[in-house]
Amino acid sequence: NMLQLVQKHSLNFPGFGACKGSLACCTCHLILDKEVFQKLDPVSENELDMLDLTCGVTATSRLGCQLC
Ligand code: FES
Repeated sequence: NMLQLVQKHSLNFPGFGACKGSLACCTCHLILDKEVFQKLDPVSENELDMLDLTCGVTATSRLGCQLC
């Protein structure tokens, strides 16, 4: 997933993935292009619950740790 990609390649996104994918933070919040968003699996209830607590959410927001 996106979190593993950031960690594997030591990409410099300060704070990204603070909860290591346990859906307890929103540091992995991504705003995707509509075309990309539509190709992904549906958002789970747990991800939706965390997105509800995330600032700046848009119609194409996802949590990067949940994307495969
Ligand atoms: Fe915390 Fe994604 S890393 S919700």
